[in-house]
Amino acid sequence: MRPRGAAGRGGAGRPRRPVRDQARNTAFDVMRAVAERDAYANLLLPRLLRERGIGGRDAALATELTYGTLRGLGTYDAIIEVCGDRAPDPAVRDALRLGAHQLLKMRVPPHAAVGTSVDLVRLRVGQGAAKFVNAVLRKIAGRTLEEWVAIVAPDPDRDPAGHLAVAHSHPRWVVTAFRDALGEDAAETADLLAADNDRPLVTLVARPGRSSAKELRDAGAEPARYSPYGAYLPEGDPGQIAAVAETRAAVQDEASQLVTLALTRVPLDGRDERWLDLCAGPGGKAGLLDAIATHGDLEGLAAPSAQRGEEGPGGGAPRAFPGGAWVMASDVQHHRARLVLQTTDDALVITADGTAPAWRPGAFDRVMLDAPCTGLGALRRRPEARWRREPSSVAELSRLQRELLGTALDSVRPGGVVAYVTCSPHLAETRVVVGDVLARRDDVEQLDARDYLPGIGGLGEGPHAQFWPHRHGTDAMFLALLRKRP
Ligand SMILES: C[S@@+](CC[C@H](N)C(=O)[O-])C[C@H]1O[C@@H](n2cnc3c(N)ncnc32)[C@H](O)[C@@H]1O
Repeated sequence: MRPRGAAGRGGAGRPRRPVRDQARNTAFDVMRAVAERDAYANLLLPRLLRERGIGGRDAALATELTYGTLRGLGTYDAIIEVCGDRAPDPAVRDALRLGAHQLLKMRVPPHAAVGTSVDLVRLRVGQGAAKFVNAVLRKIAGRTLEEWVAIVAPDPDRDPAGHLAVAHSHPRWVVTAFRDALGEDAAETADLLAADNDRPLVTLVARPGRSSAKELRDAGAEPARYSPYGAYLPEGDPGQIAAVAETRAAVQDEASQLVTLALTRVPLDGRDERWLDLCAGPGGKAGLLDAIATHGDLEGLAAPSAQRGEEGPGGGAPRAFPGGAWVMASDVQHHRARLVLQTTDDALVITADGTAPAWRPGAFDRVMLDAPCTGLGALRRRPEARWRREPSSVAELSRLQRELLGTALDSVRPGGVVAYVTCSPHLAETRVVVGDVLARRDDVEQLDARDYLPGIGGLGEGPHAQFWPHRHGTDAMFLALLRKRP
């Protein structure tokens, strides 16, 4: 294949002037900011598109280029390495990554992918680098993605994790952690990694008493699979929906909704008035807890188990919490605690360190501990996140998780219930934390969390519940429900 115009020459052998392509230059700017300033692509890109007046097809192109390239760069870097005669400078490598994504994943014609990349580099880096980029991309254009993976990825029989890491563009330690959590199943690990590379559905939550799933459906959303308060938005800006704009509804992953509902649906003997959200910022789960505490679990009686004729917890359908409870929402970071004020109407919001509680032991009836974690369960949402996490952070976080779980259990009264939640399936942050804390206490029993997620399969062997992107279309959220012995 010989890409037309790829070397940047016009008629009569004169170099033609490089064309400044808005979408590609903006994607390049975001890639550079991610590398140089640890920028978050999902915050920076929309801002640049707005400031530069880029909309419609160009905005869609810039978005796919940026997010797709950031997700795929583990694979692209391995290919670029074998196609060049030297290691590229960081800026040149970003341009090559963008070009590789267009050639291997998007339906951009090769001459356009190579030509626009060469123009980008001529404008932003220099003529010498442009020649190098032209040569490397022309080589990449000679094979398909599958052909390249077969060449550059380790042999799947000899190094299965290494193969998956390159083929699905994830760090090797993340592949290993996922495989461990999935019980060593390599094929399913591949499904999970592939799901991480897909753009997630936009899922909405209707805060009960403030909005309803029907209101969201009437505004163009589709019914959610599991959550009675959920709805999927196939396209468009969620901010344009009145209920979302008025914070009566919000964008929230469906598993986040379900683990919150599960906490409220465990039957309690005695008082059920005081609920604590120990790590509440920015307030997604607190928003749902606060609405249920005030208005009740209005869809509870029509919850999935009842509709499907299955038995819910305790042999009956999940009950509707009658309201009349009150939520205290706390976060150690003041700015994150302040965000909870926007998601709740009636909660008391405080800034406090959960490891040094500012309340007396046993003060609460239900406690949500949505613990700080690596976030490995939500890699689909932040395209660059998988490259930022370090395996060393797991040990540090799991120490904090143990400490916070100790506080959560101390904060709940005898007979009360704690939800331990992470947005990570890493065993060291999930089962190991719960197991260690339970081994040191004799005042806590573990409930089977799946009983409070009726009608949802594929959550594991229990008593924990583990959601998965490839099974449920949700983040990989973990839930353990723990009751303080009466
Ligand atoms: C996973 S996020 C919580 C997300 C939130 N529950 C939601 O649904 O929007 C974890 C939170 O824990 C907070 N955090 C970290 N260390 C803490 C501590 N020692 N005490 C209280 N909060 C802490 C972080 O500031 C962060 O906001």
